[in-house]
Amino acid sequence: MVETIERIEKCEKHSIEYTASVMVFRDREIITECPECQKETEQKVIADELAEQKAHERRLLAIDFERSGIPPRYTTRNFDNFRSATDEQKKAWRMAKDYAETISEKMQSGAGLILAGKPGTGKTHLACAVANHYMHKGGNALFITVTAMIRRIRETYQKGSNKTEQQAINELRNVDLLIIDEIGVQKGSESEEHLLFEVINERYNHFRPTILISNLNAQEIKKFIGERALDRMREGGGKFVSFEWDSYRSNVAGDDQLPNADQALYQSTNVVRVNDGWGGKRI
Ligand SMILES: Nc1ncnc2c1ncn2[C@@H]1O[C@H](COP(=O)(O)OP(=O)(O)OP(=O)(O)O)[C@@H](O)[C@H]1O
Ligand SMILES: [Mg+2]
Ligand SMILES: [Zn+2]
Repeated sequence: MVETIERIEKCEKHSIEYTASVMVFRDREIITECPECQKETEQKVIADELAEQKAHERRLLAIDFERSGIPPRYTTRNFDNFRSATDEQKKAWRMAKDYAETISEKMQSGAGLILAGKPGTGKTHLACAVANHYMHKGGNALFITVTAMIRRIRETYQKGSNKTEQQAINELRNVDLLIIDEIGVQKGSESEEHLLFEVINERYNHFRPTILISNLNAQEIKKFIGERALDRMREGGGKFVSFEWDSYRSNVAGDDQLPNADQALYQSTNVVRVNDGWGGKRI
């Protein structure tokens, strides 16, 4: 037999008196909390739910980022933590930021971006800032080096490959935003140049924007990717940005705005794969 009575209770924590409902069950009493305690409990439940939701979103984003190929170091690079001391740096920052802010137009025009210049000057930083900005808004991007891209296509030539060359190229074509890094690091053979042209041309034909990153200068890039590919990169307002200043790499460790591995969106060696029932955007 359960009996409920009302009784004046005192909350020690909030030092208030209140009318509590007291449920008497055998030799036990269940007493309702004071209104202030109730409020706190409700707020804690909401806060816990929010934290859980945030953690869930972060896990999904981490999976997204791992699939994007953006290296962990660069998942934390954005427009706010790029420092521009000189006019040239400001210009490079502005051009990359403009590109990110008009990314939906780029998805219509396919206009590309070429970031070229000296090592350590922030080319990969700014390209990833564009990708990060886009991905945080729900877009899909793929970051890949030329070498890895060529390998990915060539893997399909092997016996037992479950993909054709065309399928591999189509995957690279279908990504909304493709970033190809380290153009010209390795001396390209004629067949490599041809594959690079294939990818750029396929994307061009489908109005898909591509960002190229290189240590070569304009003239050398033209030689490396070929005039026809370069011409396609320029169409629809494609831009070329020069990075001709000293490397920032020796400053990275002392820059407290540049996060370390523990803040990266995923760790390439220790990825937790969770099944959130999320189908993912296949690339
Ligand atoms: N202006 C800057 N402000 C803040 N951090 C920067 C800046 N430039 C570069 N960095 C940081 O310095 C490191 C090297 O930059 P990044 O990798 O983008 O150089 P890069 O131009 O791609 O060089 P490389 O041609 O050798 O690949 C990164 O950690 C990057 O975040
Ligand atoms: Mg780089
Ligand atoms: Zn209370």
